[in-house]
Amino acid sequence: MTKIIIFISGKGSNMEAILNECKNGILRGIAEPVLVFSDKENAPGLQIAKNNNINTEIISAKGKKRQNFDNEVIDLLSNYTFDYIILAGYMRILSDGFVKTYKDKIINIHPADTQLHQGLHAYEWAFENKMSETKITVHYVNEGVDTGKIIAQKIVDLKECKTLEEVEKKGLAAEHKFYSETLGTVFSQ
Ligand code: GAR
Repeated sequence: MTKIIIFISGKGSNMEAILNECKNGILRGIAEPVLVFSDKENAPGLQIAKNNNINTEIISAKGKKRQNFDNEVIDLLSNYTFDYIILAGYMRILSDGFVKTYKDKIINIHPADTQLHQGLHAYEWAFENKMSETKITVHYVNEGVDTGKIIAQKIVDLKECKTLEEVEKKGLAAEHKFYSETLGTVFSQ
C-alpha cells in the first residue's frame, strides 16, 4: 500500500476525489492517505478531510521566509511514514531544500500543459486566450515552477465552454478522474 500525504491550500476538490478513490474507487487497496496538510487555516478542504476521518495538520505560512516555513513542514512530516506527497491545489512554491528532501516523491496536478503555462490562473489563461482545449498535466515537482518531469497529460475539449465558470467546471471534473488514474499507474509501477 502506498502511503500518501495530500497538500492543499483551498477548497480541496481534487483531494476529495482522491480520498473517495482511496476509499471506494480505483485507488482502493493501492493508496492510503495518512495526512492532509494545509498552509491555510481556513482552507475549506480541511473540513472535508476531517469528515473523511483523515488526520489534518496546519502550519500557517504567514510572515515566514519560504525556507523557514518549509523546514517547519519537513519537521512535521518527520512524524509520519509516507511514500509520496500529492499536491492538490497547494498554492505555494516549494523551496529547493524541500524538493531535495523528497526528491521524486512530490507529484502535482496543473490545469494546463506545463510546457505552455506555469503558475497560477491556468483556466483564466485558457479562457482569455480562447483556447479550444487545455492539456491537464500531472508531473513530478522539481526546483522550478511547474517544470518537473511530465507523468501524464489529458486533453479537455473547451470548445463548448462559453464562460470561465464552464471552463473551470469541465476542467476540474476531468482533473478529479485523471489525477487518481495517473496516481494509480505510478503507485503500481
Ligand atoms: C486545481 O484546478 C488545480 O489543478 C490547480 O488549483 C486547483 C485547485 O482546486 N492547481 C494549480 O493551479 C497549481 N499550479 P481544488 O483545491 O478544488 O483541488
